[in-house]
Amino acid sequence: MAIERTLSIIKPDAVAKNVIGQIYARFEGAGLKIAAAKLVQLSRADAEAFYGVHKARPFFNDLVNFMISGPVMIQCLEGENAILKNRELMGATDPKKAEAGTIRADFADSIDANAVHGSDAAETAAVEIAFFFPGMNVYSR
Ligand code: PPS
Repeated sequence: MAIERTLSIIKPDAVAKNVIGQIYARFEGAGLKIAAAKLVQLSRADAEAFYGVHKARPFFNDLVNFMISGPVMIQCLEGENAILKNRELMGATDPKKAEAGTIRADFADSIDANAVHGSDAAETAAVEIAFFFPGMNVYSR
């Protein structure tokens, strides 16, 4: 199985609930390692650029406003099958539809405030990791 990297964001709602550690424990429990991490307050320009692919969606402004409503914890996760593994840990986009025991089922309140982001494919993971961790500041351990 290939070792992959994926970009994960713990969104403002989950940071405000003080559950960064509980979410990290799930990553670690699934065999994913933190290869880079930072707690940051995104600017509007950052959020608009990161979610640029969704610019035409009706929820774009709400999503951007939510993502800049407080600090976010951004990490590059590394491990076997990391992209799919992280998506499985996260659960469905809408927490009402997320499987029991997933991060969104346990920590998210709504589809707008849904606790976490995770890259959905290898190509997007590479772009998203480079967006937040440009250069060499990602570490295999
Ligand atoms: S996904 O996760 O990309 O497959 O889901 P998608 O439905 O394409 O949604 C893209 C991102 O938009 C967020 N989203 C919303 N935000 C606010 N309001 C509504 N109604 C809404 N629907 C979807 C969703 O959480 C995705 O954000 P990320 O950060 O990628 O999870």
